[in-house]
Amino acid sequence: MKRVYIETYGCQMNVADSELMFGLLGGAGYARADDPAEADVMLVNTCAVRDNAEQRVIGRMGELQRHKRPGDVLGVVGCMAQRLGPALLERVPRVDLVVGPDAYRNLADLIGLAGAGRRVSDTSFRDWEHYEDVPPVREPGPTAFVTVQRGCDYRCTFCIVPYTRGAERSRRLADVVREVAELAASGTSEVTLLGQTVNSYHDGTHDFADLLRAVGAVGGIRRVRFTSPYPTEFTLRVVEAMEATAAVCEHVHLPVQSGSDAVLRRMLRRYTRRAYLEVVARLRAAIPGVTLSTDIIVGFPGETEAQFEETLSLIAEADFDDAYTFKYSAREGTPAVRLHDHVPDGVAAERLDRLIEVVRANARRKNAGRVGQVHEVLVERPARRGGLMLGRTRTNHLVLLDLPPSAAGEYHRCRLTGTTGSTFTGAVVTPTLAVL
Ligand code: 5AD
Repeated sequence: MKRVYIETYGCQMNVADSELMFGLLGGAGYARADDPAEADVMLVNTCAVRDNAEQRVIGRMGELQRHKRPGDVLGVVGCMAQRLGPALLERVPRVDLVVGPDAYRNLADLIGLAGAGRRVSDTSFRDWEHYEDVPPVREPGPTAFVTVQRGCDYRCTFCIVPYTRGAERSRRLADVVREVAELAASGTSEVTLLGQTVNSYHDGTHDFADLLRAVGAVGGIRRVRFTSPYPTEFTLRVVEAMEATAAVCEHVHLPVQSGSDAVLRRMLRRYTRRAYLEVVARLRAAIPGVTLSTDIIVGFPGETEAQFEETLSLIAEADFDDAYTFKYSAREGTPAVRLHDHVPDGVAAERLDRLIEVVRANARRKNAGRVGQVHEVLVERPARRGGLMLGRTRTNHLVLLDLPPSAAGEYHRCRLTGTTGSTFTGAVVTPTLAVL
């Protein structure tokens, strides 16, 4: 039996796509390898969102090709494969295979050709493709990603994703519910619904509000998360569904990108700072205790010091619990590369440092205030160090617990006993069983 190794970079959807590829290739007779040295096929599932993500992959390809024996296949899949296409075969001489996110159905055939010495690529878009008939092969555990929407119809001027993942399409609600029910039957109790603008989900009949209610009603599903929503798609219907669905967790990741209206306009984000803050207020009013995280880009073309300071002031005003912060990276083929007034790298780097400091200070302050609180924690997996287990609150805080590995999948009421500023230590207060 041939063995396939997949290394995954980038977003949660790439993690889910790698699980899909294990499913596709498992069906074609491939076993999974956890070590590239043992694999006949090595695939790197890539991200194209920023240049440094791509540079890391180029470097990694150099390392992986050392494991390549005659007849072995080294492939690049995912968004960077889609973006660069066959040019990647020129650029990295020992790569045999380049396959984009809509072409995974052909992966086994293409691997066969590559194994026979051909250098192959498939980067065609197939806007009907959901891989509906392909059961993903997941790491067993209490949590799972479920892709509900692929592609993106927004055109944020900085973003490469519409050009790497193609047009937006939603799976049918009944198909999503069936998959979630199967997951629940095999012991998963938390699902994260994935889509590029997940709350614009619409299958022709049902919208995201319907989806939340339906997934939340699946027996055995105790937690529902979703990522990433688009601010203006939080309609009253969606917020009401969140409110009415007990399983929906009290955490929303809500990318804002900038606190300046002028920058938001140049980014073609379809809201103002004020409209964003109204969405935040709506979520806070409907879902008591909800935590908020966000994505922010600094150094977007034309961003002035004053505009950057509007982003800084938004951290306190929106009172974010956490933020993923990025320096703008020009992506060839996106509209923003044609904008003038590129911000010098040193200026952008300095803004990033200042932003990170403000984000951290806000998170530290908020988290220090949470010590002593009691939260429901789902025990996920062993922590990297100290023989502890890692769990997560509904509000998406990580908690280290002194529990045995057999506790994975259990829900416990835990007191937060301390914080590093970002993660917590905790102690079980009333042991509860994972019986629903
Ligand atoms: N440069 C920097 N950050 C980017 N992101 C998307 N495109 C770019 C880019 N060209 C960030 C956004 C998005 C997150 C996934 O990555 O903040 O929400």
